[in-house]
Amino acid sequence: MLSINPFADLATVIPAFLMQYFVIAMVLLIIFGTGLDMLHKKNVIYFFRNAQKAKKSAKNELTVGKKTAVILKTVAHDIATTSELGWGKRRLAHVLGMYGTIIFWIGSVVLIFKYSDGTVAPSYIPIIWHIGAIMTCLGGYWFWFFLRVDVSAEAHPWYRIITADLFVLALLACATFGLAWSFTQTAELSLLSYLFFTLFIISNLVLFGGVYWSKFAHMFYKPGAAIQKNLAEADGSRDNLPPPADAPEQFGLGIKREEPKHY
Ligand code: HEM
Repeated sequence: MLSINPFADLATVIPAFLMQYFVIAMVLLIIFGTGLDMLHKKNVIYFFRNAQKAKKSAKNELTVGKKTAVILKTVAHDIATTSELGWGKRRLAHVLGMYGTIIFWIGSVVLIFKYSDGTVAPSYIPIIWHIGAIMTCLGGYWFWFFLRVDVSAEAHPWYRIITADLFVLALLACATFGLAWSFTQTAELSLLSYLFFTLFIISNLVLFGGVYWSKFAHMFYKPGAAIQKNLAEADGSRDNLPPPADAPEQFGLGIKREEPKHY
């Protein structure tokens, strides 16, 4: 199953150009949803105003080379490994889900745009597509059942769903129904395969159509914020925050009693 391109079989029922239009429509939905979100929250205006204000209190002028070095370091460390999540399960689950999703999306685009017109895809591309979906499921279900703040710190049951869960649930639905569709198609269970394909399409519409209401856009905001934070650190403006205290870190013995998990 892993090496079979599910979109090639689908192309015998749905023309390849329709699949391609669908992908383009999803990209437009991301742009539209994120744009609307930025207009509504005014977060980007705030972000740039704040950066301008902080620049005035910069202590060092950063050269283009220094700025590039800071940005590259932020991409390689803060963004690529989501270092904001510290060391532990939360970061591992996020990295699994993040790379899984990226691989799954790239795999989908390559299979749909290059290999749904009858050209046979080299087997490693469908394998990458399936592995991406499996990684997304591993990271996402781990987060959903065990790591979510409401579940791990507030002790709410995993099945309590709130609006903020739209993103992770739609993402998980895409990966899960994508895998189920591919499996049932390979096993020639055509009725089930059509059912899972329909659910796969619906979950994509919810994921990409729900950008405005979900946490989807964090994948654009977080990198921007990390770059700004590190540039402000390097030019000494520190986003107009006070410098770290030089007193020793003494929090008393109480801090050792329990793992910090009250977010
Ligand atoms: C394709 C890219 C990405 C995907 C698929 C993704 C996926 C997710 C998911 C599913 C969640 C859980 C959402 C929830 O609270 O319901 C999440 C949370 C989070 N993401 Fe991402 N993310 C991506 C990129 C990034 C990037 C680039 C950063 C930072 C540089 C980032 C930082 C975070 C943080 C800090 C959280 C909160 C984690 C927590 O509460 O445990 N994400 N992400």
